[in-house]
Amino acid sequence: MRRSCSFLLPIATATLATLTALSGCLSTTTPVDTTATSPATLRSALAGKFRIGATTNGWYLRDTSLPVWQIVNAHFDTLTAGNAQKWGVINPQPGEYRWESADAFVDYADAHDLYTIGHCLFWHSQTPDWVYEDSAGQPLTRDALLARMRERVQLYADRWGDRVDLWDVVNESIEADGSKRRTKFNQIIGDDFEEQAFRMADAILPASTKLIYNDYGMTAPGRRAAVVEMVNDFKAKGVRIDGIGIQAHWSMHRPTVAEIEETIVTLASTGLPLHLTELDVDFLGRDQFFGADGANVDLARREATPENNPFPDGLPPEEEAKLTQRYAKIFAVLLKHADKIDRVTFWGITDRDSWLNNWPARGRTNYPLLFDRDGQPKPALRRIIELAHAAN
Ligand code: GLA
Repeated sequence: MRRSCSFLLPIATATLATLTALSGCLSTTTPVDTTATSPATLRSALAGKFRIGATTNGWYLRDTSLPVWQIVNAHFDTLTAGNAQKWGVINPQPGEYRWESADAFVDYADAHDLYTIGHCLFWHSQTPDWVYEDSAGQPLTRDALLARMRERVQLYADRWGDRVDLWDVVNESIEADGSKRRTKFNQIIGDDFEEQAFRMADAILPASTKLIYNDYGMTAPGRRAAVVEMVNDFKAKGVRIDGIGIQAHWSMHRPTVAEIEETIVTLASTGLPLHLTELDVDFLGRDQFFGADGANVDLARREATPENNPFPDGLPPEEEAKLTQRYAKIFAVLLKHADKIDRVTFWGITDRDSWLNNWPARGRTNYPLLFDRDGQPKPALRRIIELAHAAN
C-alpha cells in the first residue's frame, strides 16, 4: 500500500490536475475537477471565506529549504508554531532562553506574508515548575506570579511586536463540565486568572494584535457554556477578547456534525469570530482504545499494537474514502458557517509530522491531515477544494 511518490513535486505551481497526472499518487475514489478554472490550492479555494493554516515544528524550522515549505507557501495563508513559542521551550530554566526556533518561525511567517499565530501565552502544560516558584522553591504569591506573567508578555512584545498577528492568550483553562481547571495558575491567582491574563495581554501587546481563548473539547456543553459566560463577563467588564479558539482535535465519529454545528452557533452567539486552531482527524481513534477524548495531553501514553494500529503500511482506498467523507462533512458545515469563522488551522502539515502518530499511543501510523507522508495531497484535500468552489 505504501506509495513511492517523490516529496519534491513543485506543488506551489502545479495544478491539482497536473499533480494527479505527474505523480499518479492520488487515489481515484473521488472525482477530480480538471477544469482549468478550478482553484488548485486550499488558500485560493477558500479565499474570502476563512483563513486556512498549518502548524510547523522545530525540525522544519531548522531548514526552511525543505520541500514541506512548498506545501505551506502554496496552500496556507496563516502559520502556527507547534511548540516553539511555549514557555517551557523558550525559557526552560530561570535565565535560560532558547529563541532560535521561535525567531525562525516569526521570520518565516513574516517573510512569506503568512498571518502569524502566537501559541500560546499561558497554558498549564509545557510550563516549567520554576515559573510558579520563588528562588527558594516556595510557591509564588498571586502578585508575584502576575508580575512574572507580565514580564513574559513584555518579553514577547519587545521581541516580536506586531509581527505576531494573534495570540492564544489562555489555553485550556476550563474543564468539560464548565468548572475552572485547577491549574497552578488558577490555584495561585484564583478564578480571575483568565481575566488577568487578557488584561495584561491587552495592556502590553500592540493594539493590533488579536487576543483569543483556546480550548479542546469545545463541543462539551458545559465547557462551551462556560466559555460563553466568560466572554460575556469580559464584555461586561470591558476586558478585550477578540475571538474563540476551537482546537478541533477530532476523530472519525466524534464529535458529530450536529455537535460541531451547535458548537459553532453557540460560541458565535457571543459575537466573536471563531478560530479552528488545531484541526486534525484522528483516523485510528482513541476513545475506543484508550478512553481518551479531545486532546488531554496529560493522559498516560500506551504502546502501538496490531489492534490499535491496523494500517502501518498505508490506507486501503476504501478506508481513505472514509477519511475523505469525514473531512467533506466537516468542511460542509464550516463553509455553511463561514461568516462566523475567521480561520481554520491544521495541527501539522503532513501525516508524517502529526502528533497523532504518538498520542495516545506511541508509534502508530495515523492519517489525520490532508497531505500524506510523502507530502502528496490526499483525496480529502481535493474534496475540500471542490466544496469550497461549489460554495462560491
Ligand atoms: C494541545 C495544545 C497544543 C499541542 C496539542 C497536541 O492542543 O494546545 O499546543 O500540544 O495539544 O500536540
